[in-house]
Amino acid sequence: MSRRNFIVSLDVGTTQVRVIVGEPRPDGTVSITGLGLSPSEGLKKGIIIDLEKTVDSIAQAVAEAERMSGQTIDSAYVGLKGLDLELLNNRGIVAVSSEDREIREEDVERALQATRVIALPQDREIVDIIPREFIVDGYDGITDPVGMLGVRLEVDAMIVTSRVSFLRNLVRCVNRAGLDVSGLVLHALANAEIALSADEKELGVLLVDLGGGTTEISLFQQGKLRQLSTIPVGGDHITNDLALGLRTSYYTAETLKLEHGCALVSQADVEARIEVSTVGSRERRLISEREIARFIEPRVQEIFQITREESIKMGWPELPPAGLVLCGGVSAMPGIIDVARLYFNGDQVRLAEVDYAGIQNPIYTAAVGTLYYVHRQNPRQFAAERSKPAHKQKPGIWQRIKDWMGDIIE
Ligand SMILES: Nc1ncnc2c1ncn2[C@@H]1O[C@H](COP(=O)(O)OP(=O)(O)OP(=O)(O)O)[C@@H](O)[C@H]1O
Ligand SMILES: [Mg+2]
Repeated sequence: MSRRNFIVSLDVGTTQVRVIVGEPRPDGTVSITGLGLSPSEGLKKGIIIDLEKTVDSIAQAVAEAERMSGQTIDSAYVGLKGLDLELLNNRGIVAVSSEDREIREEDVERALQATRVIALPQDREIVDIIPREFIVDGYDGITDPVGMLGVRLEVDAMIVTSRVSFLRNLVRCVNRAGLDVSGLVLHALANAEIALSADEKELGVLLVDLGGGTTEISLFQQGKLRQLSTIPVGGDHITNDLALGLRTSYYTAETLKLEHGCALVSQADVEARIEVSTVGSRERRLISEREIARFIEPRVQEIFQITREESIKMGWPELPPAGLVLCGGVSAMPGIIDVARLYFNGDQVRLAEVDYAGIQNPIYTAAVGTLYYVHRQNPRQFAAERSKPAHKQKPGIWQRIKDWMGDIIE
């Protein structure tokens, strides 16, 4: 197989690093050919706190994905999630340059570049520019203006910024693990690619990624990502609460949570038959799932309480028309949907579908979604790159992002 006939995504999560190799298909789907996982040792609340450990985790996951897929992996699309990301709106305006007034790719490119002229604090930089709509001579709502006639081209774009240190540390870890960064993909966009339907994104929907160290809330409307907010609470906090509450080790608490955890006390079994060790004592006690749930439910409630506050800040005291969709590891916990329904109108809450070509777990939504997102952004890229000489290829969106990023992504 040619080098470019596969896509690799890298998710450096707070609990786990995941590398997924996928083969793009002409129908827009991606078939998964390799998967590499390793526990994530160097992150806290989505932020890298130990470079060496993070590099090791990435290298391990890459080696596993290489073994499984039989491919040598030297670059990957890297997911972005976290407290350090922000969205801004800006407009770029240019005059159409050709004599015949036909809008070309170059004009679109110049309009997008014009949106970069924006005052940013020194510790922030632009990581992506996502066009929302184009406006040609005052006519708005245009998604692709190339080939249209006009004099004045405007673009209304969403600018994604990140704290400089967050991004540089992430890219540094990826590079030190032996990979180039092919591109950066917001997890919100990656998740939406497979968790949301086009209708939901059009009508308005909240997507909540319940991760290990963070919970990310994104609002989609009129087909586009509109708002993004991240809170520093996730599944790791549930485990911590459980470890403290039961006076047991973090490791035991995590295992208990995964095997017996239930988000709603009233739904959990009352029969005491789970053995648990207490720190500092040889004694083992028997407890029930209900006792475990008593330490879980308050934290899950807190997560949805904050999610609701964020939803209100985003302008939706009630949910948007297509409701709320849950993804991320914590969404696999029994009872989670019932707790969400205490805070939001019941019928409007659902779990994301989690069957991606055989991988069935919501912890993979972002990494698999990244493959789909990359494929959809440039459906012809992978086929075209094989047949066209390099100098005849148009710079795709990823090349453009790399150009913007200058010295960060080499
Ligand atoms: N079946 C399950 N029941 C309960 N919790 C689960 C289950 N599966 C995974 N989790 C929890 O989900 C969390 C991990 O979720 P996920 O893999 O989405 O996070 P991450 O991507 O590593 O972190 P983040 O996105 O915050 O950086 C962990 O706290 C884990 O214990
Ligand atoms: Mg995650």
